[in-house]
Amino acid sequence: MSLEIIPSGEACGATIRGADLTRPLGDSTAADIRAAWLDHHVLSFPDQPMSDDDLERFTLAFGPFGDDPFIAPIPGRDHIIAVKREAGETSPVFAETWHTDWSFQENPPAGTCLFAITIPPKGGDTLYANQHLALEKMPADLRARLDGKRAIHSARAAYSKTGAYGETDRSARSMDIRPSDDAQTEQTHLIIRAHPETGREGIFGCAGYITGFQGMAADDSMALLGALYQWQTREEFQYRHKWRENMLVMWDNRSVLHMATGGYQGHARLLHRTTIGART
Ligand code: SIN
Repeated sequence: MSLEIIPSGEACGATIRGADLTRPLGDSTAADIRAAWLDHHVLSFPDQPMSDDDLERFTLAFGPFGDDPFIAPIPGRDHIIAVKREAGETSPVFAETWHTDWSFQENPPAGTCLFAITIPPKGGDTLYANQHLALEKMPADLRARLDGKRAIHSARAAYSKTGAYGETDRSARSMDIRPSDDAQTEQTHLIIRAHPETGREGIFGCAGYITGFQGMAADDSMALLGALYQWQTREEFQYRHKWRENMLVMWDNRSVLHMATGGYQGHARLLHRTTIGART
């Protein structure tokens, strides 16, 4: 059966029909999905009543599992985490800032798969920002300030013991986040780099996990990061994803930033997440 690919009409994203993710994908379907993923960066698959086994099998059709630090896996699984918020929870919404997953690692995950189990009746959309498009349209003077620079990435602000998801946040949060001193580690990546599979240039990462630029004074780094953030997250580069239960979304961390949104206070939200490791 051939895939039906329906572009979102926004800056990235497409809906895919014609594949049954509750069964093993054949090689040619997996290749077609990969090609669509590289073209559209964010793919959603509605009406897929997947089990955790299905989610793991789907992930492994696109690479090895990524290494997911700081969040404990769900019981009985090594590679699935729960992105979870209970109806009465009052802690800040998880991941409600722009980022690309685990960019502070030496080999960050190529992609992320998120499967919707409980979706609130309103709110809880996920936003994506296309970083190829943001670079393509970037003013020349901003690009000149970024070209050749290495960004310093760290999980410190989020997952250190004093970070946003640190010790004081834990008691109020239903997600099993494990802050650690490992979050102090730093890793550099070129801020403008070629996508490892398509060769298409894009911006990799943003302020948050990026804490500065190598060889640049802190004030200058902050000013440049701020200007970049303003540009790369503009609405014209965004796709707003609306969830339904039994929907799987896979996105390309090398091409897009993403962030969660709130707006569903009083309602529960639960999704299971895996990452697709980079092919090194
Ligand atoms: C994430 O960043 O993995 C979570 C996105 C979401 O909850 O919408």
